[in-house]
Amino acid sequence: MLYPRNAWYVACSEDDLRDEIPYSARLLDEPIVIWRANGAIYALESRCVHRAASLSMGTCKGATLRCKYHGLLFNHLGKVIDIPGQDNIPSIASVRKYAVERRFGWVWLWMGEADSADRDLLPNLPADIAFENHVIGGGVLDYQVEARLVSDNLLDFGHLTYVHAESFQPGDLWLETPMRITPIERGVHAGRWVEGSSGPGWMELTVNVDEWIGYEYLVPGVLIMFGGHFPLGTARSSGYRRPDPALAIGQGAINIQAVSPTGPRSSRFYFLTGPHRRFGDEAMRDRMIHVNYQAFNEDKAVIEAQQKMLDHEPHRPVMPTIHDRGVIVYNHLVDNLVAEERDLAVRDRRLATA
Ligand code: FES
Ligand SMILES: [Fe+2]
Repeated sequence: MLYPRNAWYVACSEDDLRDEIPYSARLLDEPIVIWRANGAIYALESRCVHRAASLSMGTCKGATLRCKYHGLLFNHLGKVIDIPGQDNIPSIASVRKYAVERRFGWVWLWMGEADSADRDLLPNLPADIAFENHVIGGGVLDYQVEARLVSDNLLDFGHLTYVHAESFQPGDLWLETPMRITPIERGVHAGRWVEGSSGPGWMELTVNVDEWIGYEYLVPGVLIMFGGHFPLGTARSSGYRRPDPALAIGQGAINIQAVSPTGPRSSRFYFLTGPHRRFGDEAMRDRMIHVNYQAFNEDKAVIEAQQKMLDHEPHRPVMPTIHDRGVIVYNHLVDNLVAEERDLAVRDRRLATA
C-alpha cells in the first residue's frame, strides 16, 4: 500500500467526536486517537510509549490524555508530562502527533511531519460555488479493499451505466459522451456534458436539459464535484467547457467525497451531497443521500469482488480502455509523489548520518 504522507486525509466526521472522549481512528494502517476539548481537536498516535496500550482507551482532560493502563499522562504534542510514581521523564517518552484541520464537517489529518503541514493543500470548493448555499448531508461506508481501487472507481464514471443502472439511472446517452480529462495540480479534472438529457432516471425530469457533471479528483483521494441542469444549447454555447454555475436551471448540486486508506485491504469512504437552495430542500437532500447510499453499495459489491480477483493473481496485468485516462493520469501522479517522498527521506537519512 503506497500513499503519499504529505497530504490531508479525512480521519472522521466532526459529529463522531464527543467532548473529552477519545475516538479511535485509523489511517495508513496507523492507530490514531483523536479528541476534542474546549473547541480544539487533537490527534496522537494511539500506541502508548510505555507498553503499547491503546491510548484510545484512555481518559482525556482538556489538552491532555492519560493512558488507561499505568497512567502515563500525555500532552497534546504527544509528550509524556507525568509518569505516576517516577520523577524523571525519559527524553524518548513521546508519541507521534498529527496536524489537524476541519473542513466540510470532517476532521483532516496531515500524515507527514506535523510541523511541515501545508494548509494550502486542504481541498476547496471552486471560487464560484459556496458551500453554505447548498442543503448538505452525507454518510460513510467501509470497503474491504485497498483505497486505490475506490479512487480508480471514482476516476472512471464509465461504470455508471452498468453498476448504477438501478440507482443513478444515467441513461443511454451517458456513455456516448466521454469524460474530458485534464491534468491539474495534484489531481485531474473530469468534465462531461450530456446534451438533450432527460436527466438521471430517479429525478423524473419533465423537460430535457443539457446536463453537466464536472469534478476535481485530488491527492490523496478527494472528489469535489459540481453538477447541474442547463438550458438546451448551453453545452454548445459554452464550448463544451465548464459552465457558469449561476446559469443552472436545476440541481446546482455539490458532491464532496473522500477516500481514506485505513489498512492494507480496508478503506473508509465519506460523502456529502445536496442541491443548491434554489433548486432543492431537505427532502431533496435526503433523497440524494438515499440514492448515493444505494449507488455506493453497488460500487462496494463490485470493488470488493474485484479486490479478491486481484489478490488471487496479483501479478497478472489489467487491460486499460479509453475510459481509464483519468485513472492512469492520477495514479501516475500518486506514484511520483510517493517516489519523491521516498527520495527525500533517503536524502535526509544520508545527511543525518554524514
Ligand atoms: S501502557 Fe500506557 S501507561 Fe503503561
Ligand atoms: Fe460508482
